[in-house]
Amino acid sequence: MKSILSLLPLASLLLPLGASASPCIPQGVTITAQQILHVAPNSTTCANAPASTLGECATAAQAAPALSAAFTKYTLTSKAEQAAVLGLIAFESGEFEYNRNHHPGVPGQGTRNMQSPAFNAKYAASIPAIKDQAEAVKDDPDAVLDLLVAVPEYDFGSGAWFLTTQCEESVRTALQSGSEAGWRGFIVDCVGTEANDARRKYWVRAVEALGA
Ligand SMILES: *[C@@H]1O[C@H](CO)[C@@H](O)[C@H](O)[C@H]1NC(C)=O
Repeated sequence: MKSILSLLPLASLLLPLGASASPCIPQGVTITAQQILHVAPNSTTCANAPASTLGECATAAQAAPALSAAFTKYTLTSKAEQAAVLGLIAFESGEFEYNRNHHPGVPGQGTRNMQSPAFNAKYAASIPAIKDQAEAVKDDPDAVLDLLVAVPEYDFGSGAWFLTTQCEESVRTALQSGSEAGWRGFIVDCVGTEANDARRKYWVRAVEALGA
């Protein structure tokens, strides 16, 4: 009895804050600022961001905890899937300078994966803490986006939400293999865009950074 009691403080240290004791301890994902910098070297600083995007810019140091929390929340534990999402958001946000569409300026398009207003509405509705507020402003896509970009974990979480809730299981299975064909399938068949060289460069660096 005495020896079991002496183990308890150690066991509680191993549990994430707020987690209930369970035989299956959830594994947190950690993405470091250094890994993000390998993918998005411009994200060392926001000092060079134009005034028009300064409020949107995030450094790798700011991105790291938000992305780690999001990958943990959506149980994105496959390194190949993490690399695909990290490469996507680094490309789409101009290395984290933007979280809103400026060219041509589609109202409500944004978060770090620059998803469309329709996906942002679905995404906001999936987050209990903001779903009522999002419903109240649903006719104003920019206001829905405001709710999402206000919280770094939501802002950086859209890519993981999108992959885990909007892609076919077959797309995820192929992606998890780590092959280039799997990555192309994700970009073309789920994101719905061209798997071009500019995107591929970000993906390759993300694979290197995460050891995927
Ligand atoms: C990164 O910085 C370089 C040098 O300032 C610039 O030419 C390039 O466009 C930047 N890349 C992105 C994606 O913003």
